[in-house]
Amino acid sequence: MSKPQSDISRRAALQTGAALVAGPALLKVHAASNPVKFAVIGTGTHGSYLVNHLARLDTGHCVALCDVNQRALDDTARTLTTNPKKYKDYRELLADKDVEAVAIALPLYGHFEVTRDTLLAGKHVFCENSLVFKAEEVHSLRALAAEHPKQILQVGLERRYSSYFQSVKKMIDEGILGTVTHIHAQWHSNPGWTMKPGGKDNPGNWRLFREYSGGLTAELASHHIDVANWFFSAHPEFVVGAGGLDFWKDGRDVFDNIQLIYSYPRGRKLTYSAITTCQHLPILSSQRPEFGLVVMGTAGAVEMTLGNDNAPPTALWFREPEPGDSTTHPPKGVPIITPATDVDWKNDSFLVRESKAARRWLFDKGIMLPQEDRNPVDTQLESFLSDVRSGNRPRADVEVGLADSTAVILSNIAMEENRRVSFKEIETMGIAAPAATPVAAAARPQSAVPTAAGPAKPALSAPSAKPPTAGKKMAAPAKPPATRNP
Ligand SMILES: NC(=O)c1ccc[n+]([C@@H]2O[C@H](COP(=O)([O-])OP(=O)(O)OC[C@H]3O[C@@H](n4cnc5c(N)ncnc54)[C@H](O)[C@@H]3O)[C@@H](O)[C@H]2O)c1
Repeated sequence: MSKPQSDISRRAALQTGAALVAGPALLKVHAASNPVKFAVIGTGTHGSYLVNHLARLDTGHCVALCDVNQRALDDTARTLTTNPKKYKDYRELLADKDVEAVAIALPLYGHFEVTRDTLLAGKHVFCENSLVFKAEEVHSLRALAAEHPKQILQVGLERRYSSYFQSVKKMIDEGILGTVTHIHAQWHSNPGWTMKPGGKDNPGNWRLFREYSGGLTAELASHHIDVANWFFSAHPEFVVGAGGLDFWKDGRDVFDNIQLIYSYPRGRKLTYSAITTCQHLPILSSQRPEFGLVVMGTAGAVEMTLGNDNAPPTALWFREPEPGDSTTHPPKGVPIITPATDVDWKNDSFLVRESKAARRWLFDKGIMLPQEDRNPVDTQLESFLSDVRSGNRPRADVEVGLADSTAVILSNIAMEENRRVSFKEIETMGIAAPAATPVAAAARPQSAVPTAAGPAKPALSAPSAKPPTAGKKMAAPAKPPATRNP
């Protein structure tokens, strides 16, 4: 694996003063002649966020919304100019012939059943992360997706759609960071999720209860586990972890802090931390709170975090010093995301010039993509609509989603059972073969979803098609406060 030779090329780039290679113009969303008629099921905090972002794309047209909570449904419908039909029962929406594609932003416990029914109804699916909740759902959805190869199934793992995450992936693949051995990621919040009145009876508290939620692992770690799978081009071999419910004594039963270590082939590791008592992020010069990751290789490291509607993406590239060479390397990390690419000799600071040169150096090697000028949530949704029309396979496809869900499921088992969990366990877990079913798995509550050995294909109207709590009293809680959408 080659290491960047020296800073000579960066210097040369600066000395020539040549105009830096400009990236392609901003991606423009062209008016689509045949917009995808889509619906959104689950119009809570994230569903309404997705609706808001989908509404910016003229390659799609929202024809229907569904939520059991009338207020969430009405509030979201009001933000649209397309006058969508409103459904409280998702099965009625799926029977609507107008709907070609469905975005699912339900609580985790409902993902599998609604995704399954959407595929069975012949429609394309975008389902939020984590894709599925239980081991048996991993097997069932894999089999079902294989039976519906012409339908798009994309998962809401938006980092895959970030152009600068893609750039760092390319840096890794080209050996710019040497051999990447470790990734550390964190999502630290304070206070994080809070208990709303009503405890477990309030559907708005679903994240806080194991019956409905995979806790911090499913909601937060899922994103970074997927990045590690992608950056390492591998899946973990085993996971160990410690989780605790040590601070928030409010009736929740999910962990309020988790520490996980994933071992990948050739000893590579992802270490992960999520806590709910301090939002400090020690990377990126502590300029950003909560979440981010650092990718560490023998020739350098990158610290990075995702942008959203309110904050730009940030990434710093640190080169490992070469033996005997202490002068050619900047003492600080070089930003590889900057607001402009042309050097302004009069006004740019030394650091900005350095960062632009670094970008130029990478770009000349075919590594650096145009800078991120869009929220990757927009990019992933635009890509979904485009794939629906073209039939192209999504970057975050069903296998990406199932690998991610598998990691979430096994991580929670590692912490709950305080043991090292091999990823091979998923092969027999949740499959109705008593001899092959691990004791620990057998002891866990089984999903309403049938076995992987023969994925069920119930009619849409079958009672089992309902998510476990769909029939529960939906107390129509006040709409939860907006969360930072990762
Ligand atoms: N990719 C990301 O960055 C990201 C960010 C936030 C949330 N999410 C995911 O989005 C999903 C939703 O999260 P949220 O924060 O919006 O939760 P939420 O509780 O705010 O919203 C869920 C909505 O689903 C509705 N619902 C529940 N059961 C239903 C049913 N059977 N039929 C129709 N509607 C039903 C609820 O009434 C509620 O309005 C979760 O899976 C979460 O992990 C992803």
